[in-house]
Formats: sequence, structure tokens, C-alpha cells
Amino acid sequence: MKKLTFIFVVLLSMTANVWSKTNIVISTDNTQLILQVKENGRLYQTYLGERLADGTDLDLLDMPRTNVTQTQTKGNEVYPVMGTEDYFEPAMEIRHVDGNATSILKYISHSSKAINGGTETIIKLKDDLYPVNVTLHFAAYEKDNIIKEWTEISHNENGLVSLSRYASSMLYFEESKYFLTEFHSDWAKEMQMTKTPLIYGKKVIDTRLGTRAAMFSQPFFEVGLGEDVAENSGKVLMGTIGWTGNFRFTFDIDHDNELRIISGINPDASCYMLKKGEVLKTPEFIFTLSTKGIGEGSRNFQRWAMKYQLRKGDGDRYTLLNNWENTYFNFDEAKLTSLFKEAKDLGVDLFLLDDGWFGNKYPRKDDHAGLGDWQATKTKLPNGIPYLVKAANEAGVKFGIWIEPEMVNPKSELAEKHPNWMLKLPNRETYYYRNQLVLDLTNPKVQDFVFGIVDNIMTENPGLKFFKWDCNSPITNIYSTYEKEKQGNLYVDYVKGLYNVLQRIQKKYPDLTLMMCSGGGGRCDYEALKYFDEYWCSDNTDPVERLYIQWGFSQFMPAKAMCSHVTNWNRTSSIKFRVDVDMSCKLGFDIDLKSLKANEMQFCKEAVKEYNRLKPLIYSANIYRLASPYNGDHCVIQRVSDDKTHALVFAYDIHPRFMANLLPTKMEGLNPSALYTVKEVNLMPGEKSKLSFDNKTYTGDYLMKIGLMITSTNEMSSRIIEMTQK
Ligand code: DGJ
Repeated sequence: MKKLTFIFVVLLSMTANVWSKTNIVISTDNTQLILQVKENGRLYQTYLGERLADGTDLDLLDMPRTNVTQTQTKGNEVYPVMGTEDYFEPAMEIRHVDGNATSILKYISHSSKAINGGTETIIKLKDDLYPVNVTLHFAAYEKDNIIKEWTEISHNENGLVSLSRYASSMLYFEESKYFLTEFHSDWAKEMQMTKTPLIYGKKVIDTRLGTRAAMFSQPFFEVGLGEDVAENSGKVLMGTIGWTGNFRFTFDIDHDNELRIISGINPDASCYMLKKGEVLKTPEFIFTLSTKGIGEGSRNFQRWAMKYQLRKGDGDRYTLLNNWENTYFNFDEAKLTSLFKEAKDLGVDLFLLDDGWFGNKYPRKDDHAGLGDWQATKTKLPNGIPYLVKAANEAGVKFGIWIEPEMVNPKSELAEKHPNWMLKLPNRETYYYRNQLVLDLTNPKVQDFVFGIVDNIMTENPGLKFFKWDCNSPITNIYSTYEKEKQGNLYVDYVKGLYNVLQRIQKKYPDLTLMMCSGGGGRCDYEALKYFDEYWCSDNTDPVERLYIQWGFSQFMPAKAMCSHVTNWNRTSSIKFRVDVDMSCKLGFDIDLKSLKANEMQFCKEAVKEYNRLKPLIYSANIYRLASPYNGDHCVIQRVSDDKTHALVFAYDIHPRFMANLLPTKMEGLNPSALYTVKEVNLMPGEKSKLSFDNKTYTGDYLMKIGLMITSTNEMSSRIIEMTQK
């Protein structure tokens, strides 16, 4: 009997050897994601981590490697579907036309091709019983250490297949500990960072707001793997989803302490009905894995975004004067014309006319009426927009304009003419947010209308250079007359409709500059970056609060995309402090310039010149965050040029304690053997630097190992220090 068992085992192992493993390797310079087709024909993740040495035996890799429980109920399948032996949260859940709710996806083939900056791997999977196809895409950007993933789902069944989950990505990690940093938000409180250890069970970050999707949670996260990560140490996964709508990240730790991270569209209230032959393409989940802390991850993201994602990522940006906080709705032609001259005097590139310029039957004099009627109000602006564009150009500045094209006030001619174009429940009381409703962008006629808003303004005003595209309301009444019985598709199809419009604008007006806004920073994700050059981070322009908001966004976003305007919020702080905070991002002004004293105005004018000179450095992806506002009383951020010959440090003191102990700040990213001249810039007119090291020369080594005393105990004070290689 024993002999028979032995022969059986030998035979079994021989068959196993005959089967040859298919390994699919997705690599960047530092990271590797390795997938393997196992004997059952299904695809599993066998490795995700630091790049392995060439020649590593990929066949030996396997996950999970932990002491798994006796009854194996999971195997780290790359795209597990509900209804199989994996009892944890799946990536996909499907109900076939016959009512069956299972799918087993088998590997069919894979291929790879070169893409701009990287390599795309395409893996085809197919249900073993039903005509359901799932294609996984992985684009790896070798030099930037960024990987993005998305999925395409289609079927050939006779009828509608329903998808109640359709993740973009599922990744697995085996570490002793996990620490999650999330970015929660509210109006005027965007990107607040909170760190929590992840423990057994699920943690979900999601949104269900539709249009102003990121009002409460932003689509970004950081997970410290094995240890709590710091700016310059620790292993961290940093991820984001490119989706301008409802998203969900699920962090699920199982009984073996294995973590799975599922990222995608939030499937809640979005059971997607898929037609035969139709393809559901999920949004891109984009991640970087850094073994040197968050700083390196942020540099990866910022560099990659400017190269491959952000609209005109390698281009310049306009400085501007906005009239919102100066005039609100209260302006006319004469007032605006005088502001054009002030903008010119300040030295900015563009004047941005905000809300309140449109509507005739229901003029927009506050936020109760007019949205949808995109014609200039004759009583306010008798000569229309062409006159304003001309007057601005004559004054020597470019002209830009605010729109909120996805929205409608019930008090508007548009609402009267097209009651079916608004998202609105047919049988319940309507709930209004900021007195407005969302237009139904699933309807192609509405898409034409929204595209037409930009197209008509541009046709009438070819010289107009800039749109601020606002979006103040979430979707409040989830019902579309256009979607009919497919109401579950609405949240998803809305975003697809929005992208259709934005693609048309992109194609017809490639030179336009577009700013995204959503009642502050309630909508700024990586897919939207493809269509918008920049976004409004927050209505909160208090410089102290801005330091936290900008610190949060800088984890993922390039400085040139982050609009930061000098206003009167927190006027107890000096104009220098306010300008210094805004100069670290994309500078603008939204303030009554006449309220400034002569030396303050002079300072602002010189600051604009200084900003223009330093822009290439400020927009560099090489960010080093030297002191966090979350850790105490100071915030210090450094930018370094790619060739390390030029660096800029923004040092802010917030509310330091009396006689608080100060230490020198050590720089980073410099060339240790190079000599740098250190100079304080952006001083008040006539003021001389009080810093003992001003105009002195130091080696990069000194600056990085010993550092300089660049912080102080003065409340809300700041300095900008330039370092130039000799
Ligand atoms: C909200 C934006 O965040 C503000 O900057 C301003 O444009 C208002 N909307 C106008 O209604």
C-alpha cells in the first residue's frame, strides 16, 4: 500500500513538472508586479514589491506566503469574481442573463507593447462557461516608477448582464503592519491628512456625491507597508483613481493579516447593465511603490503627471487677477474695465471674470437664478463679452471667464425649456443644493448643449484664453429620464458623458487654458488632469489653512496645477506671508488691490516679477518637504531643479511658542560637492535680509548635513531662500 502511494506521488509530481508556468512580469526600474497562471488556468499575483534581481526563479514565487489557515479559501487571484472559493471581497460581481451569479475567469493570452514612456501589458481572461471577456491592462512607466491598471469587461450573452462590482485593480500585500493615510475634506477644509493603523476587517474610503465627488474624501491614499512611513523612509504604496465621480478604495485585512486593496468606481447604487458587445472600461488606478518614504512617491507622481497626464503638463501657466472675492456678483462694465487696468498694473497675465455675468430673463444677481442661460446680462454688460475681451486686451491682459456648465437653476430659461434635461426624481420632492440641479450628461443632447456653452463663447470671442469650470452641487436627485430602465448606469454614464464633452473641447480648443473648480477643491482627480491645466484647491485662502491644504495636495499633485490666490482671508497675517504661501503653487490674486497700502502693492508687483523668474523651479517635480505643519509650528518646502544647480526653499512659521527651541533645517536633493550661494528673495520693498547666512556660499554637503536656521519664532512669518550653484 505504502509503495502504491509512493508511485502515485511520483507520478503526480511528474505531471506537475510537465505543466509549464506562465509568468507575466510588469516592471518599472524599482518595482515589480508578477502574475502567474496556475494549473487551474487562472491568474494569480505571486509578487509585488521591490524589483527582483534578474534571473530570480519566477516559478518559485507564490502568495500568500504566510501561515495560511488549514482550509485554503483564497489564492490571490488577480481579478477574483464573486461566487468562487475566494470568500473575501471580489473585484467583480456579475449576474448573467440566466440569473447565474458566478464567473470563473481563465487566462487566454497576454501581450505587451511599447507606449509613450513605458510598456503596456494586456492580459485576456474569459469565463469558462459564459461568453464573458475581461481584459486587464497594466501600463508600467519604468523611469518614473508609476504603474497604472484598468480593466475592460464585455459579453456576448443575449440580453443585459448586470455588473454590481467592476474594480479597476486588486492588489495584495503581506506585511506585519499597515498604516493608512487618507485625505478627508469638506468645503474650505480640503485634503486633511489622517493616519490610522489598519487592523483585521475592512476600511473603506468612498464617495457617493456624483459631481462634486471629492467634497468629503479625496481619491488618494498612502499605505505604509510593515512600518509607519515617513517623508524619507519606509515602504509605501501611494495610489489614486482617475475618475471624476464616485470612487471607492477598500482595504481588507483577512485572518492571515494579508491586505487586499480594491480600487475602482464606487459600485453602490451603480449596478451597471451591460449590453451585448458593449465594453465597460474602468477608470485607471495609478500607483507608485516607494521604499524611501512618501517624498520619493510624491516626486514620482508629480514628474509622471507633468509628463503624461496633466493638460499642457510641460507648459507655462498664467498668473491672474480674479474678481470673485473683490466684487462677488456686484460689478458692471465700468468696474471690470478698471480692474483690467489694475491687473495690468499688478503685472499678472490674465483677468478672470467670475460668477454673475449671465442671464437675462432671470439675471444672475445671486446664486438663486440664471445658471443655464449663458448670455451676458444686458443691464450689467450692455456690450457683452466681446467688449470685455477687447477692453482687457487693450489694457494689456488676457481675458478668462467663469462657467458652471453642468448645472441649472430652476429659475432659468433653460429649465423652462428643457425640464427633462435635469436630474430630478419624477415622483419625489426635489432636493436642491445651492438652489440648483445637475444637468443629465448621459443624454447626448445635453452633452451637445454643454459643449456648446464653451463653443459659443469661443466662436463669439476667439481671443478668450481661459475658462474656470465650476461645479458646486453634488447630484442630489438620482434619476435620469434618458437612462430609462438603466438607472444603475447613471452615476457612471454621467462621468462618461462629461469626458465626451471635455474631449470635444480638448480637440477643438487645444490652446485654451481650463481651471477646474468645485466649490473649492471638491473635484480634482488624475483623469480630470487630462482636460484641465489647473484646479482651484480650496475656497479657503487663509494662508495658515492653505499650508495644510497645499501640503496635502502636494503629496500627489504638481505645483503648476494647484491654483493659489492671495485674498483677504486672515488679514491679520502680513501680505508678505500670504503671497509667500501662494507663490509656492500657481499664483493668482483675488483681492481688492485698492485696499492695499502703497508698499504692499509695490511688494505684490515685485513678487509677480520674482514669481515669473522662479516659475521653472517652483514647478519642478523635485519637491522635498522639510518640515510638516502637522508636526509643529513650521512648514518648510524645498524645490530643486533637475540638474541640482538651483533650489528654492519656502519657510513658514505658523504659531511658534515663545522662545521655542529652533534647529537648523537640513536641505535635501542638492549636489554635495557643489557650491551654492544662498540668498533671501521676495523681501518687502526697501527691506534687507536679516539672515546671517544671506549672500554667503556653502557646499551642498554643508547645507544637507548641517543646514541653515531658516525658521523663526515670529508668528505667521515667512522667507523664501534661493540657492544657486556658483
Ligand atoms: C465656488 C468657487 O469655489 C468660487 O471660487 C467661486 O467661483 C464661486 N463658486 C462662484 O459662485
